[in-house]
Amino acid sequence: MIFELKFVKFSKEILKGIILIEFKNNYKKIYSETGILRIKKAIEFEDLNFIKKDLGEIYKKAISKYSDIPVRCYDDFPYIFSKGVNIASIENPFFYLCPKSIKILKKYNLSGFASKLINKKNMSINLSRVHVTRSFRYEGPWHRDQDLQSPDIDVLCNIYLTDEKGMKFFKKNHPIHKNKDFAFDSLIHNADYEILEANMSDIIFLDPKLIHKPYSKNKRMHFHTRFSSCFNDKKDENSYRNFKKFYKRDLGLIPSIKRLKNFIIK
Ligand SMILES: [Fe+2]
Repeated sequence: MIFELKFVKFSKEILKGIILIEFKNNYKKIYSETGILRIKKAIEFEDLNFIKKDLGEIYKKAISKYSDIPVRCYDDFPYIFSKGVNIASIENPFFYLCPKSIKILKKYNLSGFASKLINKKNMSINLSRVHVTRSFRYEGPWHRDQDLQSPDIDVLCNIYLTDEKGMKFFKKNHPIHKNKDFAFDSLIHNADYEILEANMSDIIFLDPKLIHKPYSKNKRMHFHTRFSSCFNDKKDENSYRNFKKFYKRDLGLIPSIKRLKNFIIK
């Protein structure tokens, strides 16, 4: 199932940040040259608070060792130390958000804005998750989210619910961007990467082809969406929920030992 976010036209009251950047800057040029566009204070304070509260409740349920909410968990630790499962993301939060939160998100017409960035007529969501970090820092490998040679069909969008600093990345105008690899792992030794910094209520649009390394040292929460203009790659509710990569909470002895080992080593 693809969630369509086709809604109201841009409203100056709602989209102050976006309207501003649209008139004052050549936002499309910024995005196409660098692959990243940050819109400061794009989400209204009340809207942000409402979504944050709603997601906070979902998060509380998701970290429970008995929950069936699909989550990603890269490194798990003993529940007693991490106050539940050490989740890295809540998958497809649209299934769990309350109707008012969904209405708020629709109001911002982010798919409409994403379509403008890559000159597409329509875009829909083909991936959504909430990235979270709590007690333990996380660092992932250098990679891209889309092949460099494929056409520009997707745009990533993050809505920041907390201040955040950490992800390392290279802009599109950096020479390393021409490298056609998809996964880099430890092959990147350049020190001239940039560090993504955002404040609560900012929205950042990103080209999925950007080379980046996830990193977060402090507590964070942002809403991550992938908008796509390719309507063939549909994910229905079942396949999404049964996707094997989702973390299976396992209360058995061996996983418990593994969690303890992680805690001692990391
Ligand atoms: Fe990524």
